[in-house]
Amino acid sequence: MPILETHEVSVRFGGHLAVDAVNLAVEEGVITGLIGPNGAGKTTTFNVITGLQAPTGGKVELAGRDVTKVSAHKRARLGVARTFQRLELFGSLSVADNVLTAAELNKQAGLAPSAVVEHLLGRVGLTDVANRRADSLSTGNARLVELARALACRPSVLLLDEPASGLDDDETDRFAEILSELAADGLAILLVEHDVPLVMRLCREITVLNFGSVLAHGTPVEIQSDKRVIEAYLGQGPDVGAAS
Ligand SMILES: Nc1ncnc2c1ncn2[C@@H]1O[C@H](COP(=O)(O)OP(=O)(O)OP(=O)(O)O)[C@@H](O)[C@H]1O
Ligand SMILES: [Mg+2]
Repeated sequence: MPILETHEVSVRFGGHLAVDAVNLAVEEGVITGLIGPNGAGKTTTFNVITGLQAPTGGKVELAGRDVTKVSAHKRARLGVARTFQRLELFGSLSVADNVLTAAELNKQAGLAPSAVVEHLLGRVGLTDVANRRADSLSTGNARLVELARALACRPSVLLLDEPASGLDDDETDRFAEILSELAADGLAILLVEHDVPLVMRLCREITVLNFGSVLAHGTPVEIQSDKRVIEAYLGQGPDVGAAS
């Protein structure tokens, strides 16, 4: 059974249907891709899943439980974590303190928050910069801090909104490796990303949104050869929409 499902989720902003009856299923131990052109409704879908945006219609289920009316705060406690399209770190705090804020809010019995931070910084390869101010980091490292902070919430489902945006090739490779490891450990990951080669490499299944609706769903091979997807999105060339 998928750990996260959306059923016919819709969001209307005034006269504009930003998300139109979207069905998604995300499984444990799997990286699922959510791609599509700028404005297709990806971030809005994330906002509905995390509880920041109430849907106009449809429902969100977490481990079979309807959480559509559950607050964002409670959903986080139930295991939904995310990173943001625009980096949202505490710039004047150290790398370690950025992660500590999340670890303290999600205390684990018998485990000091500082020990959790140490473990997570090791996991994402940031031990060496633990005491640096967050605003002094490269984009690549800043995105890893965001990832560590999301992991400190002990999620069962992790939503990543363009995590490779602004990363160079080496940083992207490192990020990809970490995501693969997290999935291998059982985490369910929903990945929004315009770096198409990265999505094709990491994801087992991909849902393509276009103008708020699901245009296609399938494996990377199926999606890459789908004429409608090529026309609406992939035909724009590599790293489509990355300049957004
Ligand atoms: N709070 C809002 N009020 C009104 N319209 C909104 C709001 N948030 C998003 N939209 C509109 O909803 C549509 C979907 O936006 P969304 O940010 O979900 O797209 P996206 O797929 O994440 O795009 P991108 O790839 O550029 O990040 C867009 O037309 C956007 O302008
Ligand atoms: Mg977006």
